[in-house]
Amino acid sequence: MSTGRKTDILQLLRANREYVSGQQICDSFGISRTAVWKVMNQLKADGYQIEAVQNKGYLLVDTPDVLSESELASRMKTKWAGKALSYFDVTDSTNIQAKQQAENGAPHGLLVVADQQESGRGRRGKNWESPAGQDIYMTLLLRPKFTPDKASMLTLVMALAVTRAVEAECRVKAKIKWPNDIVVDGKKICGILTEMNTEPDYIQYVVIGVGINANQTEFPKELQQTASSLQLILGKEISRAALIECAMEEFEAAYERFCRSGDLSGLMEEYNQRLVSVGKQVRVLDPQGEYTAISQGITAAGELLVTRDTGEIVRVYAGEVSVRGIYGYV
Ligand code: BTN
Repeated sequence: MSTGRKTDILQLLRANREYVSGQQICDSFGISRTAVWKVMNQLKADGYQIEAVQNKGYLLVDTPDVLSESELASRMKTKWAGKALSYFDVTDSTNIQAKQQAENGAPHGLLVVADQQESGRGRRGKNWESPAGQDIYMTLLLRPKFTPDKASMLTLVMALAVTRAVEAECRVKAKIKWPNDIVVDGKKICGILTEMNTEPDYIQYVVIGVGINANQTEFPKELQQTASSLQLILGKEISRAALIECAMEEFEAAYERFCRSGDLSGLMEEYNQRLVSVGKQVRVLDPQGEYTAISQGITAAGELLVTRDTGEIVRVYAGEVSVRGIYGYV
């Protein structure tokens, strides 16, 4: 069955809080009653709760956590972020896929989403466990017009967008652990891995990979102190598609703001309000030598400003150094 037809019908059902008649669906898409019936059966098999009442039509009662190309496409209301979609039930890594598609000419705003990754990758060469049917694994492809020195700031833009989306969708307070971990109740629920292909004076493309612990309920022992999931925190399943939709809307708005100034000046106030470490003591793990300092917040260029015990103010650059809370992860 074509994904397009499923997407169209889902969109129509979602836009109507009331029953939509079979005839209206037929007329809207120029398809037969049988075709409508087939799509409805397929949607039910996918997990949608659809009520069919004679002489009234069809009503979308509930959308559990369905993740599919149709579900995502029928939700996306953005201008460009996530408008082009590439969905996989299983893939190696959405970052790898996004880079491959970028090499083949995929457009700015392409979103690659997978239900499962077999070689999910985290920062610093770590693996990113990516079980099926639980979490969000997505990568957004960008083709920015600005110079390569600004590209690493996009990770912070994404962190802010996902934080806003988590708050809007899940109604929990979400914070940022600089530069790009998202923390709820003191535990990491999201990590971001940005990769890019640049020439000395221009950017070929940037891919921003986002892993969100959405509905995972079990974590390996070594992660239990530092990681959690939205389902564990909220005590209920969340809709991954709804969160992805909201994250794309938030990213699109934040990115356009970023492009207007060419730095984080329009976003840093909110970023700093959300920063877990502001005003707190942190441990800066600098390869040249670790030290303790007080975190002051980020600059418009995305560095973390810290005051050392000596009184010296230092700009910490992401990538070179990592920063920990003095008593643990945050
Ligand atoms: C981190 O180490 O905190 C970053 C984790 C990033 C994981 C995401 S999941 C989607 C995308 N594909 C990957 O292989 N990695 C990123």
